[in-house]
Amino acid sequence: MDQKTLNAFIAQRLPDHALEQVFYKDESIYRRDVDRIFMRSWVYAGHTSEIPKRGDYFLFNLADESVIIIRSEADEISTLINVCRHRGSRVCIKSSGQTFRLTCPYHGWTYALNGELRGAAHMDDKFDKSSKNLKSVHMRILEGMIYINFAENPCPFDPIVKDLEEVLKPYALGSAKVADRKKYFINANWKLSLENYTECYHCAPAHPEYSRGHGLTLGKEKMETLLDDVMARASACGLSKKYIDNSYPYGEEFGSGRAYTRYPMLRGHVTGSEDGKSVAPLMGSIKDYDGGCTDFQVGPITFALAYCDHVVIYRFIPLSAHTSECDITWLVNGAAADGIDYDKSKLTWLWDVTTEADKFIIEHNQLGVNSRYYEPGPYSEMEAFTDQFVSWYLECLGS
Ligand code: FES
Ligand code: FE
Repeated sequence: MDQKTLNAFIAQRLPDHALEQVFYKDESIYRRDVDRIFMRSWVYAGHTSEIPKRGDYFLFNLADESVIIIRSEADEISTLINVCRHRGSRVCIKSSGQTFRLTCPYHGWTYALNGELRGAAHMDDKFDKSSKNLKSVHMRILEGMIYINFAENPCPFDPIVKDLEEVLKPYALGSAKVADRKKYFINANWKLSLENYTECYHCAPAHPEYSRGHGLTLGKEKMETLLDDVMARASACGLSKKYIDNSYPYGEEFGSGRAYTRYPMLRGHVTGSEDGKSVAPLMGSIKDYDGGCTDFQVGPITFALAYCDHVVIYRFIPLSAHTSECDITWLVNGAAADGIDYDKSKLTWLWDVTTEADKFIIEHNQLGVNSRYYEPGPYSEMEAFTDQFVSWYLECLGS
């Protein structure tokens, strides 16, 4: 599709309405999504605790790209493009592991853990090894969370740090550990997956398990009254009193959107679990449960929900025009022991059932959107954030 035709589709969108079908199906729009959103935004790759020792690595794959996230000899994290500088083979094949060097499986070129080319047999004397190190992508670490950006000149990350560091500090995510990580395959365009995450209009009908403990389903006024009590307890519990301040989920600088909000838990729930009771030791320097939880967003496609005893990170990426993946990471206090201080199945229960339910509704959303009878409908007031995302998305796609 040429830009002129695409611009006509963009112009066609009614304000406060869902997107036209073409945005959820068209292959050329999918490729533009990858180029204009995913190759230019800060994207969560993983957590430093997943690669604690030198040589530990995991791969982050997105569209045609693959990045080796590896701890180097100097105990630093490198984010290397997984493309051999000889004839382009993938260097790392296994999705995670530990190695003392990176050896290409094709002709055996060997790279150090920081990407420097160390061995290339049978190359002549004039060959300059130093010009063929593995390429890398930009990387920033926020409280142990590794974010990468494929752009040559990425949008700024500092405003994200500035806005979130105070509120994240009590959770000590830099010394937290990954208790579990799961991927959910979704038979739907990535935007339907992400749009679903950005609204809680569907929570009451689709998520009874979530709705009985979380105040986001109540509507703004009721929620804010309850939130006053939570905020009054924040300092005593060791949490920040910062509320919604400087929230730019999709605005300001391209792709460096960030947001932060708090909302109350309901009916005696202290955390996101099946019975609302604690599922792990308190995070970081938090002293007690304040009766609330914290939502934060880093870049356009990574979200997190911080409870006092665990933090759940969600990342949405496309796999094709018609399929996407939701990747969920559960973080707990770094000192907590699996099977002693927490039970993994209890810890992950709520967001596993909730994500399975989301997968179901998102996939049925795609089936309906595929119909010739589909036409974009109006958003409710509970979908304001979705509307923001969709408007930002169209701006990114426009010429
Ligand atoms: Fe890697 Fe030849 S492609 S060594
Ligand atoms: Fe949901």
